[in-house]
Amino acid sequence: MVSAAPDVATGLDRLIRPALRHAEAYIPATIATADEHPAREIKLDMNESPYGPSPKVAEALATFHLTNRYPSIQQDRLRAAIGAFAGVPARQVVPGAGMDDVLTNLYTTFIDADDEVIIADPTFGVYRHAIGVRGGVVVDVPLGPRPDFGFDVDGVLAALTDRTKLIMVCNPNNPTGHLIPDADIERLVRAAPCLVVIDEAYAEFAGQSQIGLMAHYDNVCVLRTMSKWAGLAGMRVGYGIFPEWMLGAIWSAVPAFCNISTAAEAAAIAALADTDFLRGLVERMNGDRDALADRLRAIDGVRPFPSATNFLLLSLPVPDAEPIHRELGQRGIHVRFFGNPAHGMRDCLRVSVGTAEENMQFADELERVLRERQG
Ligand SMILES: Cc1ncc(COP(=O)(O)O)c(C=O)c1O
Repeated sequence: MVSAAPDVATGLDRLIRPALRHAEAYIPATIATADEHPAREIKLDMNESPYGPSPKVAEALATFHLTNRYPSIQQDRLRAAIGAFAGVPARQVVPGAGMDDVLTNLYTTFIDADDEVIIADPTFGVYRHAIGVRGGVVVDVPLGPRPDFGFDVDGVLAALTDRTKLIMVCNPNNPTGHLIPDADIERLVRAAPCLVVIDEAYAEFAGQSQIGLMAHYDNVCVLRTMSKWAGLAGMRVGYGIFPEWMLGAIWSAVPAFCNISTAAEAAAIAALADTDFLRGLVERMNGDRDALADRLRAIDGVRPFPSATNFLLLSLPVPDAEPIHRELGQRGIHVRFFGNPAHGMRDCLRVSVGTAEENMQFADELERVLRERQG
């Protein structure tokens, strides 16, 4: 772990905001280095698309020459394209350099020191980190037991205080892959006296969205990304769809040009002009996910959980999957392990859906590693 603020003899670290003085940097996936099969690197640890961009994106980038120009100030063309795709007015769309950036702007808009945000662990780790950086307090109302990982609506409502600003709902949830029933989300939104933030990073794989709730309730917003379904993780484009009453405040928190480069803007607009192609890839990834789940179920003791996303969470027939995670990494196959004992997932790995061939290589290697360990 990197300590953000080492003690310095001059005492100058007193100038750093208290919330950051002893903070640790957010560490995404642990990527072991491949030494047994250095030629093979199969990256299934960050829920990226295994496919390149749409041909229209490749074309737009091949002819892209505007490096000397700033992007449009409020990303009007990109917002119009996103609005048309999501079926919402462009004025309600606020883009950013990935959803992480949109979360940053949202938290800057709402969180003062000691304000509370409710999350339901195990969930996307960036929430906890980004809330802490702003001095906010994370209130965890954990998901229910496996295999349903039920979202505890009553528990969340009981945890509300007069300092609760936001409730984070990740749907489908990362890392479990499950969808929360529509009725539960609507009950939460109807009863909550604060903003309910619905993270739909994987909605295109699930084929459903809660955007419709925004027509009936003022206290809900939806966050999306082009990183997963559109294969643009490296371009960093995400967006939020926000109610009218928030727009002025959130725009005042958004950096110039929405932090989106001219190249990323061109790539995202080209992708949104090729949605039939991208939807075809989503269908393929969903089919490959189901085929991978079937293959994994055939391995003794391996249990994939149902998933509405481009990844699978699987439990292994071992109490601790860490050595298996490490062994797979050494063989050039990178997946995700969740070591925090509080999350109760040390027997699990999360694997992103890669190409059909990568998926089968992962399953074959996992089977070999498990067999070797059994003796
Ligand atoms: C639930 C969830 N939200 C947000 C993100 C971040 O997306 P982006 O790449 O747009 O920052 C991820 C990425 O893994 C995610 O799993």
